Amino acid sequence: MADTLNAFVHTLKFEAEGILSIDLRPTAGGDFPPFEAGAHIDLHLPGGIVRSYSLLNDCQERHRYVVAVLKDKASRGGSRAVHEQLRIAMPLTLSAPRNHFALVEDAAHTVLVAGGIGVTPLLSMAQRLKKLGRSFEVVYCARSRRSAAFVSEMAALTPHVHWHFDDEKGASPDVQALLAARPGAGADVTHYYACGPAVMLDAFERSCAALGYTHAHIERFSAVEVAAASDALQTYAVTLKRSDQTLTVLPGQSLLATLQAAGIDCSTSCEEGICGSCETRVLEGLPDHRDSVLSPAEQASHKVMMVCVSGCKSDHLVLDL
Ligand code: FES
Repeated sequence: MADTLNAFVHTLKFEAEGILSIDLRPTAGGDFPPFEAGAHIDLHLPGGIVRSYSLLNDCQERHRYVVAVLKDKASRGGSRAVHEQLRIAMPLTLSAPRNHFALVEDAAHTVLVAGGIGVTPLLSMAQRLKKLGRSFEVVYCARSRRSAAFVSEMAALTPHVHWHFDDEKGASPDVQALLAARPGAGADVTHYYACGPAVMLDAFERSCAALGYTHAHIERFSAVEVAAASDALQTYAVTLKRSDQTLTVLPGQSLLATLQAAGIDCSTSCEEGICGSCETRVLEGLPDHRDSVLSPAEQASHKVMMVCVSGCKSDHLVLDL
Protein backbone atom coordinates (compact mmCIF):
# COMPACT_ATOMS: atom_id res chain seq x y z
CA MET A 1 0.00 0.00 0.00
CA ALA A 2 1.73 3.19 -1.20
CA ASP A 3 2.36 6.17 1.08
CA THR A 4 0.37 5.10 4.12
CA LEU A 5 0.73 6.36 7.68
CA ASN A 6 -0.03 4.64 10.96
CA ALA A 7 -2.21 6.67 13.28
CA PHE A 8 -4.61 6.28 16.15
CA VAL A 9 -7.83 8.02 17.11
CA HIS A 10 -6.85 10.49 19.82
CA THR A 11 -10.15 12.40 20.18
CA LEU A 12 -13.69 12.08 18.86
CA LYS A 13 -15.80 15.17 19.35
CA PHE A 14 -19.42 16.13 18.67
CA GLU A 15 -19.19 19.35 16.62
CA ALA A 16 -22.78 19.86 15.43
CA GLU A 17 -25.88 17.85 14.61
CA GLY A 18 -24.62 14.72 12.83
CA ILE A 19 -20.99 15.91 12.67
CA LEU A 20 -18.06 14.30 14.49
CA SER A 21 -14.48 15.51 14.38
CA ILE A 22 -11.64 13.00 14.55
CA ASP A 23 -8.25 14.08 15.87
CA LEU A 24 -5.63 11.62 14.61
CA ARG A 25 -2.11 11.28 16.00
CA PRO A 26 0.93 9.30 14.75
CA THR A 27 1.12 5.85 16.38
CA ALA A 28 4.83 6.17 16.99
CA GLY A 29 4.59 9.74 18.28
CA GLY A 30 6.48 12.52 16.54
CA ASP A 31 5.13 14.30 13.50
CA PHE A 32 2.99 13.57 10.47
CA PRO A 33 4.17 14.71 7.03
CA PRO A 34 3.35 18.40 6.43
CA PHE A 35 0.19 19.43 4.59
CA GLU A 36 -1.17 22.52 2.87
CA ALA A 37 -4.49 24.22 3.59
CA GLY A 38 -7.13 22.56 1.36
CA ALA A 39 -5.47 19.11 1.48
CA HIS A 40 -7.23 15.85 2.28
CA ILE A 41 -6.29 12.41 3.54
CA ASP A 42 -7.81 8.96 3.06
CA LEU A 43 -8.97 7.04 6.11
CA HIS A 44 -8.79 3.25 5.80
CA LEU A 45 -11.93 2.43 7.77
CA PRO A 46 -13.23 -0.80 9.27
CA GLY A 47 -14.71 -3.10 6.62
CA GLY A 48 -12.05 -2.27 4.06
CA ILE A 49 -13.68 1.08 3.22
CA VAL A 50 -11.37 3.91 2.13
CA ARG A 51 -12.73 7.47 2.20
CA SER A 52 -11.20 10.93 1.72
CA TYR A 53 -11.77 13.78 4.16
CA SER A 54 -10.40 17.33 4.17
CA LEU A 55 -7.98 18.36 6.88
CA LEU A 56 -9.47 21.19 8.92
CA ASN A 57 -6.72 22.06 11.35
CA ASP A 58 -3.94 24.63 11.09
CA CYS A 59 -1.55 23.43 8.38
CA GLN A 60 1.41 24.35 10.56
CA GLU A 61 0.45 21.63 13.03
CA ARG A 62 2.51 18.50 12.48
CA HIS A 63 1.54 16.50 15.56
CA ARG A 64 -2.01 15.77 14.36
CA TYR A 65 -4.47 15.63 11.48
CA VAL A 66 -8.08 16.62 12.19
CA VAL A 67 -11.02 15.79 9.94
CA ALA A 68 -14.79 16.04 10.46
CA VAL A 69 -17.43 13.72 9.07
CA LEU A 70 -21.15 14.24 8.58
CA LYS A 71 -23.29 11.17 9.12
CA ASP A 72 -24.79 10.81 5.67
CA LYS A 73 -28.22 9.17 5.44
CA ALA A 74 -27.27 7.94 1.97
CA SER A 75 -23.92 6.62 3.26
CA ARG A 76 -22.24 3.94 1.16
CA GLY A 77 -20.58 2.87 4.40
CA GLY A 78 -17.87 5.48 5.03
CA SER A 79 -19.62 7.99 7.26
CA ARG A 80 -21.50 5.20 9.05
CA ALA A 81 -18.22 3.44 9.82
CA VAL A 82 -16.77 6.67 11.22
CA HIS A 83 -19.80 7.43 13.39
CA GLU A 84 -20.56 3.92 14.57
CA GLN A 85 -17.26 2.08 14.68
CA LEU A 86 -14.41 4.47 15.46
CA ARG A 87 -13.33 4.48 19.08
CA ILE A 88 -10.72 6.41 21.05
CA ALA A 89 -7.27 4.76 20.74
CA MET A 90 -8.30 2.69 17.71
CA PRO A 91 -5.45 2.32 15.20
CA LEU A 92 -6.17 3.65 11.72
CA THR A 93 -4.20 3.64 8.48
CA LEU A 94 -4.14 6.94 6.60
CA SER A 95 -2.85 8.07 3.25
CA ALA A 96 -0.37 10.92 3.15
CA PRO A 97 -2.08 14.28 2.45
CA ARG A 98 -2.86 15.27 -1.13
CA ASN A 99 -4.06 18.64 -2.32
CA HIS A 100 -6.24 19.39 -5.34
CA PHE A 101 -7.71 22.51 -3.69
CA ALA A 102 -4.60 24.57 -3.17
CA LEU A 103 -4.81 28.04 -1.67
CA VAL A 104 -3.20 30.91 -3.58
CA GLU A 105 -1.56 32.49 -0.56
CA ASP A 106 -0.68 35.86 -2.07
CA ALA A 107 -4.07 36.80 -3.57
CA ALA A 108 -5.09 40.42 -3.00
CA HIS A 109 -8.31 39.18 -1.40
CA THR A 110 -9.94 35.78 -0.83
CA VAL A 111 -13.59 34.79 -0.47
CA LEU A 112 -14.30 31.38 1.10
CA VAL A 113 -17.79 29.96 0.49
CA ALA A 114 -18.76 27.05 2.74
CA GLY A 115 -21.84 24.85 2.46
CA GLY A 116 -22.48 22.63 5.50
CA ILE A 117 -19.71 20.10 6.12
CA GLY A 118 -17.84 21.72 3.20
CA VAL A 119 -16.55 24.19 5.77
CA THR A 120 -13.69 21.82 6.70
CA PRO A 121 -11.01 22.69 4.08
CA LEU A 122 -12.08 26.34 4.25
CA LEU A 123 -11.49 26.42 8.00
CA SER A 124 -7.91 25.33 7.40
CA MET A 125 -7.59 27.99 4.67
CA ALA A 126 -9.01 30.68 6.96
CA GLN A 127 -6.45 29.79 9.65
CA ARG A 128 -3.68 30.02 7.07
CA LEU A 129 -4.86 33.36 5.66
CA LYS A 130 -5.19 34.78 9.16
CA LYS A 131 -1.67 33.65 10.03
CA LEU A 132 -0.32 35.22 6.83
CA GLY A 133 -2.19 38.46 7.56
CA ARG A 134 -4.06 38.29 4.21
CA SER A 135 -7.38 39.95 3.45
CA PHE A 136 -10.26 37.46 3.38
CA GLU A 137 -13.95 36.97 4.10
CA VAL A 138 -16.24 33.99 4.48
CA VAL A 139 -19.75 33.08 3.36
CA TYR A 140 -20.99 30.21 5.53
CA CYS A 141 -24.27 28.52 4.54
CA ALA A 142 -25.98 25.69 6.41
CA ARG A 143 -29.46 24.38 6.99
CA SER A 144 -29.47 25.67 10.58
CA ARG A 145 -27.09 26.82 13.31
CA ARG A 146 -27.49 23.45 15.03
CA SER A 147 -26.20 21.66 11.96
CA ALA A 148 -23.30 24.07 11.36
CA ALA A 149 -19.90 22.94 12.69
CA PHE A 150 -17.02 25.26 13.68
CA VAL A 151 -19.16 28.40 13.81
CA SER A 152 -17.30 29.87 16.79
CA GLU A 153 -13.91 28.82 15.38
CA MET A 154 -14.65 30.61 12.09
CA ALA A 155 -16.03 33.68 13.87
CA ALA A 156 -12.82 33.86 15.94
CA LEU A 157 -10.72 33.98 12.76
CA THR A 158 -12.45 36.89 11.06
CA PRO A 159 -15.26 39.34 11.78
CA HIS A 160 -16.08 39.20 8.06
CA VAL A 161 -18.35 36.15 7.98
CA HIS A 162 -21.68 36.33 6.17
CA TRP A 163 -23.89 33.69 7.79
CA HIS A 164 -26.79 32.12 5.91
CA PHE A 165 -28.90 29.63 7.85
CA ASP A 166 -31.79 28.38 5.69
CA ASP A 167 -34.21 28.01 8.60
CA GLU A 168 -33.59 31.60 9.75
CA LYS A 169 -33.67 33.16 6.26
CA GLY A 170 -36.59 30.98 5.14
CA ALA A 171 -34.82 29.92 1.94
CA SER A 172 -31.66 28.37 0.63
CA PRO A 173 -28.93 30.84 -0.38
CA ASP A 174 -28.94 32.81 -3.62
CA VAL A 175 -25.31 32.06 -4.41
CA GLN A 176 -25.03 34.58 -7.24
CA ALA A 177 -26.41 37.42 -5.10
CA LEU A 178 -24.03 36.50 -2.26
CA LEU A 179 -21.05 36.52 -4.61
CA ALA A 180 -22.13 39.69 -6.41
CA ALA A 181 -22.09 41.43 -3.04
CA ARG A 182 -18.45 40.38 -2.58
CA PRO A 183 -16.40 41.77 -5.45
CA GLY A 184 -13.39 41.78 -3.11
CA ALA A 185 -10.40 43.62 -4.48
CA GLY A 186 -11.62 43.13 -8.07
CA ALA A 187 -12.59 40.18 -10.23
CA ASP A 188 -9.07 39.75 -11.59
CA VAL A 189 -7.22 39.67 -8.25
CA THR A 190 -9.74 38.10 -5.85
CA HIS A 191 -9.77 34.32 -5.46
CA TYR A 192 -13.03 32.50 -4.64
CA TYR A 193 -13.12 29.02 -3.08
CA ALA A 194 -16.18 26.87 -2.46
CA CYS A 195 -16.79 23.50 -0.88
CA GLY A 196 -20.22 22.10 -0.18
CA PRO A 197 -23.08 20.13 -1.73
CA ALA A 198 -23.13 19.62 -5.50
CA VAL A 199 -26.11 21.91 -6.08
CA MET A 200 -24.29 24.77 -4.34
CA LEU A 201 -21.04 24.16 -6.21
CA ASP A 202 -22.87 24.09 -9.54
CA ALA A 203 -24.47 27.44 -8.64
CA PHE A 204 -21.06 28.79 -7.53
CA GLU A 205 -19.45 27.84 -10.85
CA ARG A 206 -22.32 29.34 -12.89
CA SER A 207 -22.32 32.52 -10.77
CA CYS A 208 -18.55 33.06 -10.96
CA ALA A 209 -18.74 32.67 -14.76
CA ALA A 210 -21.66 35.14 -14.96
CA LEU A 211 -19.91 37.66 -12.70
CA GLY A 212 -16.56 37.40 -14.47
CA TYR A 213 -14.83 36.02 -11.36
CA THR A 214 -12.04 34.15 -13.12
CA HIS A 215 -10.24 32.75 -10.05
CA ALA A 216 -12.90 30.26 -8.90
CA HIS A 217 -11.82 27.06 -7.13
CA ILE A 218 -14.03 24.22 -5.94
CA GLU A 219 -13.67 20.96 -4.04
CA ARG A 220 -16.39 18.38 -4.58
CA PHE A 221 -17.25 15.59 -2.18
CA SER A 222 -19.89 13.99 -4.32
CA ALA A 223 -19.29 12.72 -7.80
CA VAL A 224 -20.54 14.32 -10.96
CA GLU A 225 -21.61 11.87 -13.61
CA VAL A 226 -19.46 12.58 -16.68
CA ALA A 227 -20.46 10.69 -19.81
CA ALA A 228 -17.83 9.15 -22.05
CA ALA A 229 -16.78 11.44 -24.91
CA SER A 230 -18.31 10.59 -28.27
CA ASP A 231 -14.85 9.67 -29.57
CA ALA A 232 -13.89 7.54 -26.53
CA LEU A 233 -12.90 4.00 -27.53
CA GLN A 234 -14.49 0.84 -26.13
CA THR A 235 -11.34 -1.21 -26.71
CA TYR A 236 -7.75 0.02 -26.30
CA ALA A 237 -4.33 -1.19 -25.22
CA VAL A 238 -2.65 0.03 -22.03
CA THR A 239 1.07 -0.37 -21.60
CA LEU A 240 2.30 -0.16 -18.01
CA LYS A 241 5.80 1.16 -18.25
CA ARG A 242 7.11 0.22 -14.81
CA SER A 243 5.64 -3.26 -14.69
CA ASP A 244 6.50 -3.81 -18.35
CA GLN A 245 3.22 -5.29 -19.53
CA THR A 246 0.45 -4.45 -21.95
CA LEU A 247 -3.22 -5.05 -21.17
CA THR A 248 -6.36 -4.69 -23.27
CA VAL A 249 -9.38 -2.82 -21.96
CA LEU A 250 -12.44 -4.53 -23.42
CA PRO A 251 -15.96 -3.17 -24.05
CA GLY A 252 -17.94 -2.85 -20.83
CA GLN A 253 -14.78 -3.03 -18.71
CA SER A 254 -13.30 -0.02 -16.93
CA LEU A 255 -9.62 0.84 -16.99
CA LEU A 256 -9.43 0.41 -13.21
CA ALA A 257 -11.08 -3.04 -13.33
CA THR A 258 -8.62 -4.08 -16.03
CA LEU A 259 -5.65 -2.92 -13.95
CA GLN A 260 -6.95 -4.59 -10.80
CA ALA A 261 -7.67 -7.85 -12.63
CA ALA A 262 -4.02 -7.87 -13.69
CA GLY A 263 -2.94 -7.46 -10.06
CA ILE A 264 -1.67 -3.89 -10.49
CA ASP A 265 -1.53 -2.08 -7.16
CA CYS A 266 -3.47 1.14 -7.82
CA SER A 267 -4.17 3.33 -4.88
CA THR A 268 -7.92 4.12 -4.86
CA SER A 269 -10.43 5.60 -2.49
CA CYS A 270 -13.65 7.09 -3.88
CA GLU A 271 -13.57 5.27 -7.25
CA GLU A 272 -15.82 8.12 -8.44
CA GLY A 273 -13.27 10.62 -9.74
CA ILE A 274 -13.39 13.07 -6.84
CA CYS A 275 -10.55 12.25 -4.42
CA GLY A 276 -7.42 12.08 -6.59
CA SER A 277 -6.08 8.86 -4.99
CA CYS A 278 -5.72 7.08 -8.29
CA GLU A 279 -3.95 9.91 -10.13
CA THR A 280 -1.56 8.31 -12.61
CA ARG A 281 1.01 9.84 -14.95
CA VAL A 282 0.21 9.47 -18.64
CA LEU A 283 3.33 8.90 -20.71
CA GLU A 284 1.62 8.51 -24.10
CA GLY A 285 -1.91 8.50 -25.49
CA LEU A 286 -5.07 10.56 -25.16
CA PRO A 287 -7.17 9.97 -22.03
CA ASP A 288 -10.91 10.69 -21.96
CA HIS A 289 -11.05 12.55 -18.63
CA ARG A 290 -14.25 11.93 -16.63
CA ASP A 291 -13.08 13.06 -13.17
CA SER A 292 -14.01 16.09 -11.03
CA VAL A 293 -10.48 16.59 -9.65
CA LEU A 294 -8.38 17.99 -12.47
CA SER A 295 -8.92 21.52 -13.73
CA PRO A 296 -9.85 21.96 -17.40
CA ALA A 297 -6.23 23.04 -18.07
CA GLU A 298 -4.83 19.96 -16.29
CA GLN A 299 -7.18 17.72 -18.25
CA ALA A 300 -6.21 19.39 -21.52
CA SER A 301 -2.50 18.80 -20.81
CA HIS A 302 -3.12 15.00 -20.57
CA LYS A 303 -0.12 14.63 -18.24
CA VAL A 304 -2.08 12.74 -15.56
CA MET A 305 -5.43 10.97 -15.35
CA MET A 306 -7.77 9.45 -12.76
CA VAL A 307 -7.83 5.81 -13.78
CA CYS A 308 -10.94 4.99 -11.71
CA VAL A 309 -13.39 6.75 -14.01
CA SER A 310 -11.54 7.92 -17.10
CA GLY A 311 -11.26 6.20 -20.45
CA CYS A 312 -9.26 6.63 -23.61
CA LYS A 313 -9.61 8.27 -27.01
CA SER A 314 -6.47 6.75 -28.59
CA ASP A 315 -6.00 3.08 -29.30
CA HIS A 316 -2.93 2.95 -27.07
CA LEU A 317 -2.25 4.46 -23.66
CA VAL A 318 1.08 4.31 -21.81
CA LEU A 319 0.89 4.80 -18.03
CA ASP A 320 3.56 5.22 -15.37
CA LEU A 321 2.51 2.10 -13.47
S1 FES B 1 -10.13 6.77 -6.62
FE1 FES B 1 -10.80 8.77 -6.19
S2 FES B 1 -10.36 9.86 -8.01
FE2 FES B 1 -9.94 7.82 -8.51
